Amino acid sequence: MIEKFKNTADFIVQKAGFNPEVGIILGSGLGGLADKIENPIALEYKDIPNFPASTVEGHDGKLILGDLGGKKVVAMKGRFHFYEGYPMETVTFPVRVFKFLGIKHLLVSNAAGGLNLNFRVGDLMIIRDHINFFPRNPLIGRNYDELGPRFPDMSKTYNPEMIASVEKIAEENDINLQNGVYIGSTGPTLETPAEYKMFRMYGADATGMSTVPEVIVAHHMGIKCFGMSIITNISTEAEVPEEETTHDEVQNVAGDTEPKMTMLFTKLITSL
Ligand code: HPA
Repeated sequence: MIEKFKNTADFIVQKAGFNPEVGIILGSGLGGLADKIENPIALEYKDIPNFPASTVEGHDGKLILGDLGGKKVVAMKGRFHFYEGYPMETVTFPVRVFKFLGIKHLLVSNAAGGLNLNFRVGDLMIIRDHINFFPRNPLIGRNYDELGPRFPDMSKTYNPEMIASVEKIAEENDINLQNGVYIGSTGPTLETPAEYKMFRMYGADATGMSTVPEVIVAHHMGIKCFGMSIITNISTEAEVPEEETTHDEVQNVAGDTEPKMTMLFTKLITSL
């Protein structure tokens, strides 16, 4: 596998002509940041050795390399989800490649359902911590000792300095942020009312189908992680909620809120 990570990284560096230092993963409907990258070089996943092609609506399936916030970055427009049927090794493959590109910081975004009853649709939430509710930990299997430890400490998975920077940037720009715990589970079903309630009782503030596997693998290799959720729908306490949630709605809310997130990510990158 290590050879595969290296070969893919070598291909990307050869196409881009440089090594990026910041990695970005853009969630559903959150691809707008990719258009802000200057001097972009776009590589379609299908053209990158060892990358699978992404299948989800609203996920473009492109790697974009260029300049953002004064740094060399690589952004994934569209990610690989466990619910697409990929094994965890595939879901997290790009993050392993990021390490071999020389990435030191990873910024991850996602669309998520709000569990915290104080949240509103369109809120941005800093991910302080997560709960891995996927049935499989991405580090199960042989450990790559040269990349990270067998039993990684998870007490500071989301980097405190990056969180503090974003809080400062948000305050300076009058952006209101929520904070909370993200629980990641497989999907593709959204939660039943009973499941939303269970997740709320677990202490989670937002729920989604991504991020946790990628962050575990990045953290394993010592990459500093920052995560942000856009709250696209709110679970209620009602046993039979009045409204249903559609994928279109999730994408629309994400798209509307995305410029704020892009601004925060760009300024965070500058501050690194
Ligand atoms: N649940 C899981 N994933 C999601 C949701 C949700 O309510 N909204 C957007 N992604």
